[in-house]
Amino acid sequence: MAHTSSTQTLPAIPTVPRHVAIIMDGNGRWATKRFLPRVAGHGKGVEAVRAVVEACVVRGVEYLTLFAFSSENWRRPADEVSLLMRLFVVALEREVSKMHANGIRLKVVGDLSRFDAKLQQMIDSAERKTAGNSTLTVTICANYGGRWDVMQAVQKMMAARSAAGAGAVQDPAAFSEDELAQYLAMAYAPEPDLFIRTGGEQRISNFLLWQLAYSELYFTDTYWPDFGADELDQAIASYQQRERRFGRTSAQLLEQAS
Ligand code: IPE
Ligand code: IPE
Ligand code: MG
Repeated sequence: MAHTSSTQTLPAIPTVPRHVAIIMDGNGRWATKRFLPRVAGHGKGVEAVRAVVEACVVRGVEYLTLFAFSSENWRRPADEVSLLMRLFVVALEREVSKMHANGIRLKVVGDLSRFDAKLQQMIDSAERKTAGNSTLTVTICANYGGRWDVMQAVQKMMAARSAAGAGAVQDPAAFSEDELAQYLAMAYAPEPDLFIRTGGEQRISNFLLWQLAYSELYFTDTYWPDFGADELDQAIASYQQRERRFGRTSAQLLEQAS
């Protein structure tokens, strides 16, 4: 599906962001502050996901993308990693039917080959079941990394080129942004209008590197388990105050509006 690239052409500027992408951070600190094990924070984080998904439906957001597990999160202690996997399985078991009933399409992107067979199979069936829904597309980024995404896209693009004939790979100048973008894991979605990171850190942590080129960035100290509809509204209100220039000047925007 062709979506406007923020660097190739000027995208539309929606009042309510069409695509919100969130780094859900601060679960561990939320729990530690309460003298609870870190895993309690992850459990509570699942509840926050539910609240934010519901709020996005009500507000007319079309795409919600959630960073659930990064390609670097394997570096965590083995018991935390396995608990996160179990939570993922339980959340799929509990939530998929409800999401389907609410017209939500679920997508899971990342290098899924490292997950166990049962989880991969559950993801596959959840995606199939909800594929025809269009109220809100919820994408869970799992074992996802922005560099992994760009690399796998390059590999797929090169493979398609070589399948098209040896001559096709030999002219590097013939590659375009648009050609590469169609192989990114989230080629079905427009670029995020609004990026949110909870938990106080101000970094991208290898999230959507390509697609965040012109997203509005919003950082909050609120830990993810405490994030909900009100905090989402604050982020959207901040987004609505921004002037999205995409390289142009303020004067040009004013001229265009008049
Ligand atoms: C985010 O919360 C959830 C995952 C990365 C899975 P953290 O677990 O990173 O929480 P903090 O940053 O340690 O508080
Ligand atoms: C980013 O959070 C990844 C997810 C929220 C899934 P981290 O807590 O892993 O990020 P860093 O390590 O602090 O940058
Ligand atoms: Mg963290």
